[in-house]
Amino acid sequence: MGKYDKLFEEITLGNKVTVKNRFMLAPMCDDSSDDGEVNDQQVAYLGLRSADVGIANTGYAYVNDSGIQIKGQISAAHDKNITGLSKLAYAMKRGGAKAILQLSHAGRDATGSHEYGNRVYAPSQVDFPWVHYDFSEMTEQDIQQVIQDYKQATRRAIQAGFDGIEIHNCNHDLLQQFFSSYSNRRTDQWGGSLEKRMAFPLAILKSVKEAAILENRNNFIIGWRISPEERHGQTVGYDVDEMVQQTKKVLNEGIDYLNLSLNIAAGYNNGKRPDYNAIPINHKKSFATIFRELAGNIPVYVGTNIFSADDALKASDSDEGVAGVYVGREMLIDPNFVNKIKKHEEEQIINTTTIEHLRDVKLPDGFVDNYADTDGSTRSVSYRNGIPLPGLD
Ligand SMILES: Cc1cc2nc3c(=O)[nH]c(=O)nc-3n(C[C@H](O)[C@H](O)[C@H](O)COP(=O)(O)O)c2cc1C
Repeated sequence: MGKYDKLFEEITLGNKVTVKNRFMLAPMCDDSSDDGEVNDQQVAYLGLRSADVGIANTGYAYVNDSGIQIKGQISAAHDKNITGLSKLAYAMKRGGAKAILQLSHAGRDATGSHEYGNRVYAPSQVDFPWVHYDFSEMTEQDIQQVIQDYKQATRRAIQAGFDGIEIHNCNHDLLQQFFSSYSNRRTDQWGGSLEKRMAFPLAILKSVKEAAILENRNNFIIGWRISPEERHGQTVGYDVDEMVQQTKKVLNEGIDYLNLSLNIAAGYNNGKRPDYNAIPINHKKSFATIFRELAGNIPVYVGTNIFSADDALKASDSDEGVAGVYVGREMLIDPNFVNKIKKHEEEQIINTTTIEHLRDVKLPDGFVDNYADTDGSTRSVSYRNGIPLPGLD
């Protein structure tokens, strides 16, 4: 019995589909597409990183043209995108991974949509200090339209050959904006009480499940990613207990796995940025344990700051539930991370990087540009959520 064997056990998802091991390629948008169209660099980049994991996740694909957080994200908003998406699905599935298209809508944070001149909207028109453009409060018609847009995007994912979709109900996107009492000040059926604030995410879940039924795909995987709390200093959008209530409903409705995004959790991790060990305030158990206990036999993926085989083992060390592990930045640096652990070559794992190395391991140009100054020198990477890549500080 090898030390890391547990990481290579099969996992059974909610819909009884099995995945070959506990690893997930974390959702990471590369911001490199051409006006939403998948390009060859992205196919090569994601294909390379998908081969050895159980689940390979694309990162944000927007469901309509008002939901673009950053230009360069992949589009699942139009039928014309299906051809490009199918190339991606094919490359991601080739090594036996389940290929997942993550669906998102940025709501008020749709900077990309604003730059394209598209309308931006949110649950409520609040003066958010970081938003420097006009956006409107969603009408009932807008809400119904977005619910339909998720359904259509799911149909496109199915037609493109993906094994499943993951709903991005986290990292401050539109679904989270509805759940957050800070962002949602509505007084209709979509805002106010806890029940009403969770109505929109639940309506999206129902809608994507309907799409799978309409396309006759019982075994289509529906993943669900959450930020377990929204807490920034004194500003609390929701706490972990409220998210537990939402997740109970979601589990009741039926999902196939749960994915915990931990980087915007406030973090009670001995003063460090939150990761798979983080414990919510006024609680004794970690976020990971709380949600694994809640989910029972529905797998729960946790991660953040996984750079070694031992990190991965620790993140999946659990007496309760079914533990999956997502790996993000390390898979950018070393696409063979999982295979090296499997082959007992964990000392060979690469942990630091240079711009040249990132190009060698097929990061798309647009992605690499996020790591280099215009003169080509490296800089401190304050990319997504301020998480630097090791070696580039
Ligand atoms: C470049 C980059 C892009 C990301 N894009 C997404 C995304 O599209 N969707 C998402 O849910 N999380 C996204 N994340 C968060 C990651 O999925 C992951 O939670 C985070 O990077 C922590 O894991 P790590 O420490 O293994 O990198 C992104 C992170 C990075 C570094």
